[in-house]
Amino acid sequence: MTGTARSVVVSGGGTGIGRAIAARFAAQGDRVTILGRRAGVLRETAESLGGDIHPVAVDLSAPEEVERTLDQFPPRVDVLVNNAGRRGTPAPEGGLKAVAEAWRQDFDHNVLPAVLLTEALLPRLSRPGGRVVTIGSLAALRGNGSYGAVKAALLAWNHTLATRLGPDGVTANVVVPGYVAGTEFFGGAPSEAELDRRRRQTLVGREGRPEDIAAAVAFLASPEAGYITGEFLNSNGGALLGR
Ligand SMILES: NC(=O)c1ccc[n+]([C@@H]2O[C@H](COP(=O)([O-])OP(=O)(O)OC[C@H]3O[C@@H](n4cnc5c(N)ncnc54)[C@H](OP(=O)(O)O)[C@@H]3O)[C@@H](O)[C@H]2O)c1
Repeated sequence: MTGTARSVVVSGGGTGIGRAIAARFAAQGDRVTILGRRAGVLRETAESLGGDIHPVAVDLSAPEEVERTLDQFPPRVDVLVNNAGRRGTPAPEGGLKAVAEAWRQDFDHNVLPAVLLTEALLPRLSRPGGRVVTIGSLAALRGNGSYGAVKAALLAWNHTLATRLGPDGVTANVVVPGYVAGTEFFGGAPSEAELDRRRRQTLVGREGRPEDIAAAVAFLASPEAGYITGEFLNSNGGALLGR
């Protein structure tokens, strides 16, 4: 353990990037609460990672569910990681009703989990010193339909959050991953051709790993990062430069 154990909440902490984030904090002795809709997945992750990890099953897109589970969240939150999200809905055919439904779905599952969880936990954030880190996407800077648009909404929302929390000594930042392999996001392992294509899009010649994103989150959550707020930090191996 390094220093004093912190209370960390990681949404989507049962799989992929969120799991790696939870593992990183737990390995340094922090108390980690992981959230997701599937209780069994969360339980399995908590058991296999070991450490001080507590699963809470909740659909973070549903305000009433967030309110119902509030008493299972820790009373004090030093680090909140808004990582839950899902792949965008393909451009639908079938008229405007289908278009509206697809956009609503992407908003509900990528923006609302961060907004609702943060609003619910605001009173419990450590002041000063609390940290909010949200996981965005390269798609927000490059396009990609409704998914890119809703991930861009997180960047705009983070500005407001940083403005609200700054006077209390709490920072709010976004980590913006490029392609990350080894998660459930794409619903299965990529083909070798797809992996190769993704690797060639980077400057460092490899795909992103959940641990790469966890390292960026750990930095922004650290006491040393207390002068950085309202920012986003790319982690994409050079797939997109300097924005
Ligand atoms: N993989 C990539 O290439 C990539 C690139 C850029 C950004 N990202 C972003 O990184 C984040 C993590 O994705 P990942 O790649 O690690 O994929 P993942 O393995 O599918 O992880 C997503 C996690 O979010 C949880 N989740 C989704 N909707 C939820 C909801 N409504 N309420 C509570 N939990 C919910 C899922 O658990 P349940 O299904 O059990 O709820 C799952 O554990 C996402 O925000 C994603 O947009 C990923």
